[in-house]
This record gives sequence, structure tokens and C-alpha cells, in this order.
Amino acid sequence: MKAIAPGMDRISGEGAFEYLAKAQGLEREGAHVLHFEIGQPDFPTPLHIKEAAFKAINENYTGYVAAGGIADLKAAIQEEIKRTRGFKPGADQILVLPGAKPGIFFSMLALVEAGDEVLYPDPAFPTYGSLVKYLNAADGAIPVKEENEFRLDPADIKKRLTAKTKLIILNSPQNPTGSVMTKDALLATAELAQKHGVYILSDEIYSKMLYDAAFYSPAALDEAKERTLILDGFSKSYSMTGWRLGYLVGPAAIIKKMEILMINALSCTASFVQKAGIAALEGSQEDLHKMMAAFRERRAAIVKGLNEIPGFSCLAPKGAFYAFPNIKKTGKTSREVADDLLYKAGVCCLPGSAFGPGGEGYLRFSYAASVETINEAVGKIKKACPKNKQYR
Ligand SMILES: Cc1ncc(COP(=O)(O)O)c(C=O)c1O
Repeated sequence: MKAIAPGMDRISGEGAFEYLAKAQGLEREGAHVLHFEIGQPDFPTPLHIKEAAFKAINENYTGYVAAGGIADLKAAIQEEIKRTRGFKPGADQILVLPGAKPGIFFSMLALVEAGDEVLYPDPAFPTYGSLVKYLNAADGAIPVKEENEFRLDPADIKKRLTAKTKLIILNSPQNPTGSVMTKDALLATAELAQKHGVYILSDEIYSKMLYDAAFYSPAALDEAKERTLILDGFSKSYSMTGWRLGYLVGPAAIIKKMEILMINALSCTASFVQKAGIAALEGSQEDLHKMMAAFRERRAAIVKGLNEIPGFSCLAPKGAFYAFPNIKKTGKTSREVADDLLYKAGVCCLPGSAFGPGGEGYLRFSYAASVETINEAVGKIKKACPKNKQYR
């Protein structure tokens, strides 16, 4: 038999799914595991969004629809971008997708060839690096440092820009660190991209999940007409991870090409799910506000709790719902500590190294769990520390 394509050895999965499987293995044996691994809000999808989907299905709105997205959802997205980013893109600048993730895949397929360099933060959402390797692109991972609150620094981007650089991937608020780039840094990065003729993929999936700062998009500079692609979606803000709904806003010529990728790969995004998306954008935002109020309380609880564990120290995340404690003083690798927490304390989190080499020495806790569960987890981790000394 001939070999499978070599690119398949360059593409990788996600640590979150690996640790979920480990935790589920323990649960099958009867263990009680507290879950902090998956980046998924623990709230139900708001009722009015579900009702919009029920209505669409009952009206038999269940067939194929336009590959790039239905006109009324695109119109809702145009208004949403105007409200939240300050400019109204054309309908031809929008591509509706089944989740945000295909937006990363398609943008990179459309823009990046073997040998092109892609700059992106390290640690980061694992899909970026996986696709860089899959496409045989030059890996331009830029370390984000705890001293800079894990923010990507435009000065570091500037140093790394070469003639080969094709794309800069930004993600603010960021997974896994919860960092938020300042408006000045985002603007400076957009200006660098303009000067060097480089594209930006701005992954803004956590754009509605900020605790202190206001949201800013680097797309404000070119209104997503020349080089900036905004990636956003419904999974996190509206608790819709399983629905699979996201979108890209970008230069019309690139969007048109990616619509052809949609036709080849997926035909279209589920019709009734798109109707639910309209209800999410146009309906009440009350559930989102309540969810963020809960995340704010949980953030306080987990940051306080993690800082009480000997050998751990944790900054307060500025956005998203991830705590990223430094565990370097334990003297163990992040995988060793994550495994210990799972097998000795029954607490499942992710090793920072699952997000790139820059994540070594850290853990990621997705605090999509109640304050009670957070406190229980902290208590269990403390107990797993012998005599409450340094965790070893
Ligand atoms: C930074 C980032 N981008 C994209 C995604 C993918 O979102 P979706 O589930 O809508 O595909 C995630 C999900 O965890 C994420 O953290």
C-alpha cells in the first residue's frame, strides 16, 4: 500500500481533546473529575436563539443555502461590525462558516504557500501552528512574555518581519493566556502590515468577552478591505459551540476565493443555524451580560485560589475565560503537573505546552465552572500538595 500524504504527519490535534479523553477514562472507572480543560462556556444557548432555530426547522428551512451565507445573516453581520468595529463592510466582504475554526483553515489555504512565513503568538490556539506546519510555511512563532502580561508586542513583530512574511495572526483577547493587546499595539501592528504589504488574520472570537478594556480591532485601519481579515463567531459569546457558526470579514477578492473553498469542502453552513445566528446578533444581549458577570466572579475566585497554591502564581486575565498560572517553581514540566492534578487531585486542566513551546511552565484553566467547583478544585489541589508545602 502506498503511504498517506506526508502533510498528515505535520498536522496535529488539540491538547484539550486529549485531556478530556483522559478525564473521561477516569470517570468511566468511577472517579469524580472537575473539568477545566475545554474552552466551552457552561451556560445553555439563550432560549430566543434556540427558538429561532426551532422555528426555521418547523418551517422546513432545512435545505442547502448560498455557499457564502444567507443574505439576512450577512445583513445582521454588517450591522454587528458597524456597531462593534465602527465600519460597515459590504455583503461581499462576509463569509459565513460552520464555526470560526474553518475560517483559520480557509484563510491560511487562501493566503499561505510553502515557504511563506506566518507570524503568530506563542503560546496560542494550537490550530495556527498546526496549519503553518501542514502548509510547509516558515514558522514565525513569537513568544509572548508574562512580563508583558502575555501581550504580543508590535516591536517583536517588527523585528521578525522579513520579505517572506505573508501573514500575521493576532488573537486578542487571547487563548490560552487571557491577554488583551492595547489599542495602540493593535494599531501599530496594523500599520506595520500596511507598510510591508502583509495580511492580518485577526481572530476576534473573544471580542465580547472583556473584563476591563474596551474592544478594538486592527481592521479599523483598512476596514477589512485591503489586508485584514476579522474572524468572529457565536461559539463562545452565545454559548453555541456545538451549533458550528462563525464568520470572516475581509477583502472581497479573498472572500470570493474562500467561498469556492466552502463549496468544495462544505457546500454551505447549516441553514437553520444561520437563522439562529440572526437571533443571536439582533436579539437581547441579556444572557451574554449575565454570563460575563458570572465569568467575572469566577475569574476572581480562580485567580485568588491559584495564587494560594505553593509554587503557583497567576495573573488576572483581561479577557476570555482562561487562567494561565505560572508553575515553574514546582520544578516540573507543565505536562507532569497537569497529569498530577488530574490523577492525584481529580482536577483536569491543560498543560501550557499544548499551546506551543512558549506555554511550557504554565497551565491553562478554562473557568467555565461555578465558583463552588472552582473552590473545590483549589481545595483538592492544595490537599494534593504534601503538607501544603511547595507542590512536588
Ligand atoms: C482563539 C480561538 N479561535 C477559534 C476558536 C474556534 O471556535 P469555533 O468553535 O467557533 O470553531 C477557538 C475555540 O476554542 C479559539 O479559542
